[in-house]
Amino acid sequence: METNPEVTGPTIRPRRLRTTPALRRMVAETSVEARQLVLPLFVREDISEPVAISSMPGVLQHTRSSLRAAVTEAAELGLGGVMLFGVPATKDAEGSGAIDPQGILNLAITDVVAEVGDALTVMSDLCLDEFTDHGHCGVLTPDGQVDNDRTLAAYAAMARAQAHAGVDMVGPSGMMDGQVAVVRAALDAAEYQDVSVLAYSAKYASAFFGPFREAVGSSLQGDRRTYQQDAANAREGVREALLDVAEGADLVMVKPAMAYLDVVRRVRDAVDVPVAAYQVSGEYAMLEAAAANGWIDREPAILESLTSIRRAGADVVLTYWATEVARLLAR
Ligand code: PBG
Repeated sequence: METNPEVTGPTIRPRRLRTTPALRRMVAETSVEARQLVLPLFVREDISEPVAISSMPGVLQHTRSSLRAAVTEAAELGLGGVMLFGVPATKDAEGSGAIDPQGILNLAITDVVAEVGDALTVMSDLCLDEFTDHGHCGVLTPDGQVDNDRTLAAYAAMARAQAHAGVDMVGPSGMMDGQVAVVRAALDAAEYQDVSVLAYSAKYASAFFGPFREAVGSSLQGDRRTYQQDAANAREGVREALLDVAEGADLVMVKPAMAYLDVVRRVRDAVDVPVAAYQVSGEYAMLEAAAANGWIDREPAILESLTSIRRAGADVVLTYWATEVARLLAR
C-alpha cells in the first residue's frame, strides 16, 4: 500500500465528537429528564413520624402528612409521577385492607391527589402482597397455592377502590394471568374510563426485591416463582407484554431494570405503547452500599444507571432517586 507522508494517523476520528462538554451534549443520543422519572413512595398506617428503611438508606416509610410534603416536592421538581405503596397496620388472609375505602393506600391516594392535583401522575400499586398476612400477591387455595381467578376478583375491587379514591393510573403488579383485562373491565364498568393502566408485564421472581420486603413489612415465606417470571426467560417477557397490550394496558413495564436491560429493549421493539422500567429496591441498595463504602462514585453511578435504562428503551423509569436526580439535572 502506498503511504501518504502527510497522513500520520486516521482521518476518521470518532473522538472529535467527544472533544468538549458542549459537543458531547449536542450529540448525546439519550437523555434523562425529570418528566420521565416516577418516584415510588411508601405510606404507613399508624405512625406519627416517618420511619427509615435500613436496607434502603435515604428512603422512608411516610406518614400521611410527610407523604404530602414529598409529593409537593416531586411536583415542584417536574417529575412524571409518583407510585404509591401502602403499609397497613393489620393484615389478613384476603388482604382486605387493599379494598377498604379507609385502607391506608386508598386514603393516601386521596391525600396526594388533593395535594398535587394534575401536576403529577398519581399511580398506585395494585397488588395484595402489602395487605396479606401470608405476603403473597393473591389469595390462597386451601392447599396454599395462589388462586389466580379468585385473586382477579380482588384486583377488580381494588381497582374500583383506587379509582374512587382519585388515582390517575393503577399498576397491577401481581402477575396473575388476565389481570389487565379484569382491571380494565372493572374500571370501565364503574365509569372510570380515564383511569389508565400501567401493567407490570415482565416482572421477574427477583432477589433484587429484597429490601422492598422490609419497606412494606412483608411477611412472605418462600417465593413467588409460580407467578413471577423465571430470570432465564426474555422471550416470555415479550409475550407477557404483548398479552397486556392486547388486554388494554396503556403502558407496559419491565422489572427489575438493570439486570433485564435486554428485556427492556426487546419489549420496546415489540410494542407500540410507552415502556416503563422499574429500578427496584435492590438496585438502589446495591449502589448506595457501594457508595457508602467509598467503592463507587455515587452521583455519576446513579446517572449512568438511569442513562443505561433509558438507552435500553425505557420511556419512563421508576426510581427511588427520582427527586434527587431531578434536583441534580436542574442545577
Ligand atoms: C408487589 C411489588 C413488589 C415490588 C413492587 N411491587 C414486590 C414483589 O413483587 O415481591 C418491588 C419493588 C422493589 O423492590 O423496589 N406489590
